[in-house]
Amino acid sequence: MICDNISVNEKGHLTFAGIDTTELAKKYGTPLYLMDENKIRERVRVYKNAMERYFPKGSMPEFASKAFSCKQIYRIMAEEGIDIDVVSAGEIFTASSAGFPMDRAFFHGNSKTDEEIRFAMEKGVGTFVADNEEELKAINEIAGEMGKKQRVLLRVSPGIDPHTHKKISTGSTESKFGVAIETGQAKGFVKLAIELENVELQGYHCHIGSQIFESEPFATTLEIMLGFIVEMKKAFNFEPEILNIGGGFGVRYVEQEPVIDYDEKIKEVSYVLNKQCERFGIAIPKIHMEPGRSLVADAGMTLYTVTNVKEVKGYKNYVSIDGGMTDNPRYTLYESPYTVVLASRANDEKDFVATISGRCCESGDLIQEDVNITKPLKDEILAVLTTGAYNYSMASNYNRVPRPPVVMLKDGEDYLAVKRESLEDICSLDI
Ligand code: LLP
Repeated sequence: MICDNISVNEKGHLTFAGIDTTELAKKYGTPLYLMDENKIRERVRVYKNAMERYFPKGSMPEFASKAFSCKQIYRIMAEEGIDIDVVSAGEIFTASSAGFPMDRAFFHGNSKTDEEIRFAMEKGVGTFVADNEEELKAINEIAGEMGKKQRVLLRVSPGIDPHTHKKISTGSTESKFGVAIETGQAKGFVKLAIELENVELQGYHCHIGSQIFESEPFATTLEIMLGFIVEMKKAFNFEPEILNIGGGFGVRYVEQEPVIDYDEKIKEVSYVLNKQCERFGIAIPKIHMEPGRSLVADAGMTLYTVTNVKEVKGYKNYVSIDGGMTDNPRYTLYESPYTVVLASRANDEKDFVATISGRCCESGDLIQEDVNITKPLKDEILAVLTTGAYNYSMASNYNRVPRPPVVMLKDGEDYLAVKRESLEDICSLDI
């Protein structure tokens, strides 16, 4: 199977983290998000250990919690002792309510409101990743009002296209994120940060995009960023303590995609870092990375019930499910590939070509098109694999569909981490 936490038992049922998925569907109902806690912890430790081993002391992964945000994930990250990346008052509130030590949080985002900046400071967020000059001035002003000196990193865009999907590429010069190096504007941004009284400049941040399988785009980013560090050192005698090179290592969603050895990739990045720092004659900064999907994607699986199988003679077969773009909008948005398995007969021949269609009144509400699966019967359980990232966190109530619960699996046991939304919840804000 696509990941080592997935198997098939003697009944021919799909298992996840050692538990029969059809039993979980019976117990909790569908649609249902499953998250394998042990897999999350395993992935976190790979990053943490590799970064400790290959980068200078103090280097650290931050979990990009936009990939999966609920109280329990912040508790897990706190226990694992890594930092987090938060992008909104909502994520800050969730993390802080879960008891996450907010000094270890990094506040990202390209459009922070003044209210959010104030709220983040009140909650004790350790570091702000300033996206632009206006924001930096607002951070400085609010910090002043609150009698604080706020740690900041500056987000700069290195001008890199990592050859990923256009909508998830973020590091090009024309990107909406950060301040561009190429146009010379990043230099003014640094000057401003040094001059402002109530911010303490810690270093730089960049992020080039997501679902990147090679270490090469990171190596190119490093070269550009180190060149920028040298230039800023010459101009302002400022050397950063931290260089954040973003998230983005890919995840294997389908068999055709490569298995990624994250330790090896981080090691490759460190070679370039050491070599280039030596060449440029600068101290090696602490490296931060902010993986999102590669920490949680393959820790997730979604279970659905098949509502009907429709064969449009001579055209197309549809397998309709009781969920869709409301719990997983990624095919609709990016045509993302996924592996689909009939959980109740996981070893049977996959000789039916079908499009998995969601329940929304929207032709584009599809989970996959024309995939080979075992032909299901009504009411059988269909599993979509590798849904731990950007599924629950991107879920919506379109068509007033309630969001599914999140059940965590740990050491052969299952427990509820997020309850199923009820119809009353759906109306709870209506006057
Ligand atoms: N850091 C920054 C500043 C980011 O913008 C992102 C993702 C990450 C880290 C984490 O990237 P990851 O390791 O998860 O690839 N919703 C889309 C992806 C957009 C992500 C945007 N930022 C998806 O479903 O694929």
